[in-house]
Amino acid sequence: MALKHLSTALLALAAARVASGAVTKRVTCPTGQTTANAACCVLFPILDDIQANLFDGGECGEETHESLRLTFHDAIGLSPSKGSGGGADGSIITFGETEVNFPANLGIDDIVDAQSPFIAKHNISAGDFIQFAGAVGVSNCPGAPRLEFMLGRPDATGPSPIGLVPEPFDTITDVLERFAEVGFSPEEVVAILASHTIAAADHVDPTIPGTPFDSTPGIFDTQLFIEVQLRGTLFPGTGGNAGETESSLEGVIRLNTDQSLARDSRTACAWQSFANNQAKMQSEFRAAMSKLALIGQDRAKMVDCSDVIPVPKPVVGTPHLPAGASMADIEQACATASFPTLTADPGLSKASEREGLSASGSAISSVVVTGRSRPSLLAGASRFPLPEPRTSRRCRVACRPPRCRPPPALLPPTTDLSSLRFLWASATVSRTGVCVFAALPLAAPPFATSRRHHHSLCF
Ligand code: HEM
Repeated sequence: MALKHLSTALLALAAARVASGAVTKRVTCPTGQTTANAACCVLFPILDDIQANLFDGGECGEETHESLRLTFHDAIGLSPSKGSGGGADGSIITFGETEVNFPANLGIDDIVDAQSPFIAKHNISAGDFIQFAGAVGVSNCPGAPRLEFMLGRPDATGPSPIGLVPEPFDTITDVLERFAEVGFSPEEVVAILASHTIAAADHVDPTIPGTPFDSTPGIFDTQLFIEVQLRGTLFPGTGGNAGETESSLEGVIRLNTDQSLARDSRTACAWQSFANNQAKMQSEFRAAMSKLALIGQDRAKMVDCSDVIPVPKPVVGTPHLPAGASMADIEQACATASFPTLTADPGLSKASEREGLSASGSAISSVVVTGRSRPSLLAGASRFPLPEPRTSRRCRVACRPPRCRPPPALLPPTTDLSSLRFLWASATVSRTGVCVFAALPLAAPPFATSRRHHHSLCF
């Protein structure tokens, strides 16, 4: 009997070595790329397809954000205490008719619908596709780490139970317990929440869909960890929504759970530790994502195809306080170390913004509206001519004249447009059909004049 166990174990070990590529030489795939394991060659055509047709040519845009969210909502669906769910097994798509209707999955149908044709077209399991698309999408965001990707998730056998995906109105105790069930420490929970640096909410305040969680939703930077630590002073939309708390910036929404993780004694120091440490955030997020992507899976039976994932571009910009903010606005919560000293973005102060909002004059010559609160309103547009806005699946908010006009003035009439680089702004249609604008000056816009940026404005 012992001998039988030994030989089974040896066989399993041999299979695992083959699967992990340990005995396989680097190969050149039929498509020309090289990879550590021939089994990974199937991924290159999928990579090209999704970069072109899901991520709009490699954007860190809405589909990237939604794909990252989907990796989580699929993977967290395992609960030893509730006795079922397969984790990162693709059940959120395979058994979408059940899981997509869970309240915590509100809005996830968009990306389930967008990804499903790719799974049907390529020979890949839904579980593998979801994690692959998440890793590829994240690689489109400057500043992101290159995520690990392990291939080999079998098809899901059933839906996950309801109630496993955390909600923004959950207590931190509930959130930490839920994550602990799938092996995450409080520090790892904070690390994986770096995902909210490239995120927006469509449904938390449905009057302002596409409102981001920080001022730089197209960059995988540390601004989330800084901006959530600032004292909340406003609601970007209507306020009073479940799971939402006051944010410190116009056009930025704050989740109650993010607010509390930044202030709870169990997580505050971890939160603060990322505020001006891009490298730490990258490496700990990467490690946490590796763990997430393998919930319910057996690493030993999988193939490491991480070298198929593109290498992300470096981060753009440096950690800073938003224009007009000071260190006095930081709500210190970590008991053992001070929040790192940061300087404010030298844009227009909040006071001049207010002045600008009531001033007259016509500094704005072109308005482009997206549903994602990406930089969408440009001053001095004559220098950067823009095509007409259009409505598409990615532009859920369509503001067009005459219903929606540029605000008469967002800038003091004395503003020297040549010195002003860009306004970062969001615009949405309120329930009454009025266009609501929020503008923030950016001193060092990462987008500048690049064509990629224009593309992400959904022309
Ligand atoms: C305490 C845990 C978490 C809570 C309560 C939470 C909650 C939320 C909520 C309410 C939204 C907005 C959804 C909408 O209204 O459209 C959201 C968006 C998002 N979440 Fe989380 N989340 C959590 C953890 C995570 C994790 C672990 C990841 C990734 C690994 C993640 C990735 C994202 C992304 C990328 C978005 C943006 C989606 C988009 O822009 O369309 N979240 N999250």
